[in-house]
Amino acid sequence: MTISPKNIVITGGSSGIGAALAKHYSGTGIILHISGRNQARLTEVADQCRKLGATVYDVIVDVSNMDAMTNWFALICQQTGVPDLVVANAGIAGGSINANSPATIDDVATRDIMAINIAGVLNTLLPVIPRMVEQHHGQVAIISSLAGYRGMPSSPAYSASKVAVKAYGEALRPRLAPYGVNVNVVMPGFVKSRITDSNDFSMPMIMSADTAAGIIADGLKKNRARIAFPLPMAFAMWLVGVLPPGVIDPLLKRLPSKI
Ligand SMILES: NC(=O)c1ccc[n+]([C@@H]2O[C@H](COP(=O)([O-])OP(=O)(O)OC[C@H]3O[C@@H](n4cnc5c(N)ncnc54)[C@H](OP(=O)(O)O)[C@@H]3O)[C@@H](O)[C@H]2O)c1
Repeated sequence: MTISPKNIVITGGSSGIGAALAKHYSGTGIILHISGRNQARLTEVADQCRKLGATVYDVIVDVSNMDAMTNWFALICQQTGVPDLVVANAGIAGGSINANSPATIDDVATRDIMAINIAGVLNTLLPVIPRMVEQHHGQVAIISSLAGYRGMPSSPAYSASKVAVKAYGEALRPRLAPYGVNVNVVMPGFVKSRITDSNDFSMPMIMSADTAAGIIADGLKKNRARIAFPLPMAFAMWLVGVLPPGVIDPLLKRLPSKI
């Protein structure tokens, strides 16, 4: 089975993976709804997608704002109908622990990560899934991370948020399939973006956002349950997730923290 969406929603379309996906899907006959918080970046991406032939609706909306997201999806459905594909991509990383004082947990950063990376995904999916079920048609992609195979001491809040959305997507997939709605969990390794630009440690097998977008779109087209890449990193992180804590914790403790 291959899927070719025409009416697509991408949260966090103003940079990185979201922007690359928006450009990847752009073309004649494609309707794109993209969101973000930074007007200048969002407008630039929207203009690039229009030049590629897409009809673009760009909206400033914070994914952590439930009411704003509900209203946005009501507007989308009114403007262009129920989307074929929704990509819950918007996310933030870092800052939940203090690298100089590892016992210090940054309360605000931790709550922000949970509000955007978990509640933001719910605010993206919950308004649209009932509409997709009603139409017996639709696809939702959840952008988790290879960090979502396990809680990581280097990024407790971030990894926990990605574990949560991975599990949520995996749980929804078989429940929604009989109703014509496909759910895919995307688990990228290191991708060049604003999130990784601030990292001062080595990032094995890092790839461009355009390459990542191609891999993600291909996996979504084939309706893969889990789109985890690059494969060697995906295997390593899967292994990290299944090894007993007594074996893996001493190794994970040595990884650099995401600030
Ligand atoms: N880069 C990686 O190595 C990597 C690896 C695995 C998973 N991921 C995941 O991929 C997704 C995209 O990240 P990225 O790497 O492309 O980083 P990025 O370049 O920083 O892009 C993040 C996007 O999310 C948007 N965003 C952040 N908070 C938001 C909020 N509260 N409301 C609405 N939009 C918000 C940003 O928009 P504004 O800037 O306009 O606010 C931006 O468009 C994230 O979920 C991230 O966790 C990234």
